[in-house]
Amino acid sequence: MPVEDPVAEAARRRTFAIISHPDAGKTTLTEKFLLYGGALHSEAGSVKAKGSRRSATSDWMELEQKRGISITSTVLQFPYRDHVINLLDTPGHRDFSEDTYRVLAAADAAVMVLDAAKGIEPQTLKLFEVCRERDMPLLTFINKWDRPGRDPLELLDEVEKLLNVQPTPVTWPVGIAGDFRGVIDRRSGDFTRFTRTAGGATEAGEEVVSADEAAEREGPSWQAALDELELIGAVGSDLDPEAFLAGISSPVYFGSALTNFGVRLMLDGVVDMAPSPSPRPDIDDTPRPLDAAFSGFVFKVQANMDRAHRDRLAFFRVCSGHFERGMVVTHDRTGKPFATKYAQQVFGQDRETIDDAWPGDVVGLVNAGDVRIGDTLWADEPVTFAGIPSFAPEYFSVARARDTGRFKQFRTGIAQLDEEGVVQVLRHPDTGDQAPVFAAVGPMQFEVAAHRLENEFGAAVDLSPTSYTIARRTDADSEPALRAMRGVEVLQRADGTRLALFESSFWLARVEADHPELTLERLVAEGMSS
Ligand code: G4P
Repeated sequence: MPVEDPVAEAARRRTFAIISHPDAGKTTLTEKFLLYGGALHSEAGSVKAKGSRRSATSDWMELEQKRGISITSTVLQFPYRDHVINLLDTPGHRDFSEDTYRVLAAADAAVMVLDAAKGIEPQTLKLFEVCRERDMPLLTFINKWDRPGRDPLELLDEVEKLLNVQPTPVTWPVGIAGDFRGVIDRRSGDFTRFTRTAGGATEAGEEVVSADEAAEREGPSWQAALDELELIGAVGSDLDPEAFLAGISSPVYFGSALTNFGVRLMLDGVVDMAPSPSPRPDIDDTPRPLDAAFSGFVFKVQANMDRAHRDRLAFFRVCSGHFERGMVVTHDRTGKPFATKYAQQVFGQDRETIDDAWPGDVVGLVNAGDVRIGDTLWADEPVTFAGIPSFAPEYFSVARARDTGRFKQFRTGIAQLDEEGVVQVLRHPDTGDQAPVFAAVGPMQFEVAAHRLENEFGAAVDLSPTSYTIARRTDADSEPALRAMRGVEVLQRADGTRLALFESSFWLARVEADHPELTLERLVAEGMSS
């Protein structure tokens, strides 16, 4: 039942993202959440084109689109219990990209999926660091319990040691990995017993039984689980809502996304524990009350999501008030009015016109020409939210149009990709757009940029890697001295920021030591991607 009050609507919402190392089960868990949310009526498994997604990375866009739930889907909204779930989709890239970081900037919490056989993997660690930097509450789902995996206590130990976060199991598995019987809910002591459904296409059969009955039915497995729980209880890893909200501890759930075991408990955990949208601080750190007039911030811009449309969508998260399609909002950076006649919600490949949105919701604005990542939109009462910081790039490649006859298309394309933040585009005053340098936090961003330049703009590109690996922000005064040095390059971003590039941190340290007068500032989120 619609409530129509921003504070009450915000309280019903949970806006979160799922993070994982590739293959841990993010896609599967996403599908199962949709199944439990009633948003997938067909077989859950059919959303994904099995096998095809393992193909060449450069085809990601078409591939991901074929999969339905895609890097471009951005947000999946569905009702669950009396709540509205906004599940932000982080890109399915194999390596880290800035896009993920931006999506996380729009989430209030994250679910970290671990593979029970693998534990913490490199990408889990990087994504976790992004969440940590934002003090984002994190829930943990230890997946694939239906097949042989590691010892649960050992996994918890790894979470604690590698992430420096206190794992607080909410559920505990009964039966070893590979012979998964169900979970004990530590809060109530109840045992939820699961039964398989064919291929996990429907919700798993769940039966909640008392401890006595469980002891009788599960025998040694039940006793083993109780023994483990006693050990955990002794080290004080009980659920602590405050520590969770501060990002210090993480509630842990065990399950198997493929067979739907434990999925409902996980989703209940998100609803019961993850925070609802709260007032967002502006650049002066003054929170914008939820019931203030409409405001939102743009965290993602994407062109050509749909080839047939050839349009450009700017996605914003509502921060306060009531967004109604058709309302005229102010684009804070330019001060210009913006009519929101074409506001959409993107669900997989389907787009739907959206009429209302509340704090925590995500709206895509079609053909929002001037709107860029980090921009604020507001109605009635002005507000400026802090932009989303760009990552310190660590990969730099010189880009050249393969066919000089296509230079115009090349230039249009790089301007577009720069605005979308697919790669950062750096220019040298002498060579400008002839040979810009693409800068990225992960090499995959180059592949995506090259693929899109060729396919969307008809401008094939040659990329030559450079030997630079580290960037510092500098200024006009320091530029001539830096430029005169060996092993240093100074390039400019479109926003005028000057970046000094160095071949190694060793070289940078020497320049810093020898020339303390030069401006060489660290970039935000430095080293997070290394
Ligand atoms: P990702 O998005 O994190 O990359 O992972 P995804 O969900 O695609 O899952 C990766 C693989 O792990 C898939 O198998 C998927 O079926 C499997 N998987 C996910 N959850 C579970 C689980 O709970 N138990 C088991 N046993 N497997 C699980 P695949 O064969 O690599 O791909 P596909 O051909 O099934 O797509």
